Amino acid sequence: MKAFVTVVKTIVALAILECLAVVAFIYSGVYDVSATAPDNAIVAWAVHTVSEASVAARLGANKVPAGLDKPETIKAGGRLFVENCAVCHGAPEVAPTPIAQGLNPSPPNLFAATREPDEKENFQFIKYGVKMTAMPGFGKSQDDDHIWQTVAFLNKLPGMSKSDYAALTAAVAPAAN
Ligand code: HEC
Repeated sequence: MKAFVTVVKTIVALAILECLAVVAFIYSGVYDVSATAPDNAIVAWAVHTVSEASVAARLGANKVPAGLDKPETIKAGGRLFVENCAVCHGAPEVAPTPIAQGLNPSPPNLFAATREPDEKENFQFIKYGVKMTAMPGFGKSQDDDHIWQTVAFLNKLPGMSKSDYAALTAAVAPAAN
């Protein structure tokens, strides 16, 4: 019994010490939150894994509507992409903007030919955003129809050429010269 009490006391003392160490770390300023400083590998892994699991756990409610392959839906999404997304996610053969260059984590390249767009996942990212990254949640400013239009455009992004991008975003793209 005595040994058991000693073990419990030791565990409680260690737990209190750990809590104090965490609080001391939080107030110490040791961790560098500068966007330009690379992430500690363990923190980066933990944040990324939490994010992936969180998104995956919330896809069930996203019911993909019919008609995402209609040309007018894709073009409507193209216009929304230029207005809301290109500043961070770029466009084919366009150098990253100063905003995109300064973000940590970096915005993923949605135009990479190897990407396989997942409609439910993309809807989740666009509607709700990702905390503590620059990815905004557009659910506060757009209805689901507009978000699905953007998803329809995202389906076409992998490997998209500069000329296809210009054609699909025509209403707001600068005139070709
Ligand atoms: C201010 C910058 C910014 C804007 C504007 C922005 N994004 Fe993002 N986006 C990010 C960043 C940063 C991430 C990475 C988040 C992370 O690491 O979890 C991201 C992640 C994503 C992802 C997840 C991709 C993946 O494979 O992890 C999708 C999809 C996406 N954005 C689409 C969009 C769309 C569509 C728009 C416009 C409606 C948009 N984003 C607007 C910065 C931005």
